[in-house]
Amino acid sequence: MATAYDLVIRNADVATASDRFRCDIGIRDGRIAALGANLDAGAEEIDAAGMLVLPGGVDAHCHLDQPMPEGMRMADDFFTGTRSAACGGTTTVIPFAAQEKGGSLRAAVEDYHRRADGKAVVDYAFHLIVADPTPQVLNEELPRLIREGYSSFKIYMTYDDLKLSDHEILKVLTVAREHKALVMIHAENSDCIAWLTERLNDEGHTAPKYHAVSRPMAVEREATHRAITFSELADVPILIVHVSGREAIEQIRWAHGRGLPIYAETCPQYLFLSEQDLGGEGYHGAKCVCSPPPRDIGNQRAVWDGLAGGVFSVFSSDHAPFRYDDAEGKKLGGKEQPFQYIPNGIPGLETRLPLLFSGGVMEGRIDVHQFVALTATNPAKMYGLYPRKGSIMIGADADIVLWDTRRKVTIANALLHHDVDYTPYEGRTVQGWPVLTLSRGKVVSRDQAFAGEMGSGRFLPCGAPQVPRLQQGKSI
Ligand code: URP
Ligand code: ZN
Ligand code: ZN
Repeated sequence: MATAYDLVIRNADVATASDRFRCDIGIRDGRIAALGANLDAGAEEIDAAGMLVLPGGVDAHCHLDQPMPEGMRMADDFFTGTRSAACGGTTTVIPFAAQEKGGSLRAAVEDYHRRADGKAVVDYAFHLIVADPTPQVLNEELPRLIREGYSSFKIYMTYDDLKLSDHEILKVLTVAREHKALVMIHAENSDCIAWLTERLNDEGHTAPKYHAVSRPMAVEREATHRAITFSELADVPILIVHVSGREAIEQIRWAHGRGLPIYAETCPQYLFLSEQDLGGEGYHGAKCVCSPPPRDIGNQRAVWDGLAGGVFSVFSSDHAPFRYDDAEGKKLGGKEQPFQYIPNGIPGLETRLPLLFSGGVMEGRIDVHQFVALTATNPAKMYGLYPRKGSIMIGADADIVLWDTRRKVTIANALLHHDVDYTPYEGRTVQGWPVLTLSRGKVVSRDQAFAGEMGSGRFLPCGAPQVPRLQQGKSI
């Protein structure tokens, strides 16, 4: 006998960014076909009694198999990275197709598709990284790529091989305004970092902990303010990525007070790690070297307040996977490196949601609706994937996660599914874990084990960004 649905999830306690309701969820052809009581039978059925049912996470800032300078390599490709995402409750990832200086953006996109095709296990879109905004890129490549579904791009104010001048940033913002794209900005002052690094080197300070000393809050605060000024001049919204602490948040609040459309993202490392994790004089701190660096407890509090109070729209992992004990990773060339040569970035795709759920929802700092908004709905909206992704509603893709809010897990790298040889959160106990993840109605992870299929993830062209409304004088 034909059944009404391919799959029915019974007794779901659903939470979205705005609502909480009990229902059965009927899934047909990978989409949510019905929400209601006592739905007809499905070919398969799952009983969600006792579980919280949330939309699959959208990780809008992660780096997978990104081409690196000679000798350096990211540990995760699209298979291992998305496998890890699925096991952590994330069903959409948005990594970066990165232009090289002197190279074409179109070529970077084509190369990146080859890296993802046949490997991803959950759906994916691409941001672009614009490293060389030549007239050809600004006038031809970018407008075409935006029309084809690459409607967001990241630009850098630091890193020699990626950074843009102020003049170049303004030109990129002008293209974004004209063609309705969203620019993500990495805000750190490059010259200040270079000067501080020289001074530290002259004093013989090379250990990983000096990474944080070379990139103090002031360096991020200044660049954040400058980025806000560029947005105001070009009259276009921007999103400031990986905001690490109080002084940058103050700049963003100041912008909100002036009614400026400045959006902001933060990441687990600014809530759960601190400069102490960069270590003493030993090398283990290299595991936590990322930019901006983790700061102190006071800054962690400021980031929590920013999440609760609406300064941030998006919570991403910034998963940037380099192995610790590896000549292509943190021990580049097979040896311990002075801090400025340690590959920047830490892994976090799989731990993003459990850490925020535990520290945020279970500890009462944010509610479950804020959790869903920050980790799924807002990123889907801001990057043009809503309503297909980021919510539980009729017609949306059946990207759904069952959360066991009672389950306590002590994070250990051995439990995770990335290809990195460490997690910075080793030994930390969290409460609340995703126990079943569905991607377009198919189980991709069950009980902390991968259950999906390599290559089942699809590329998602992005529409125009839908930015949330900010109230003048108040972050919402
Ligand atoms: O240290 C970091 N964040 N590495 C990844 C690249 C970036 O700037 O996001
Ligand atoms: Zn960055
Ligand atoms: Zn990043």
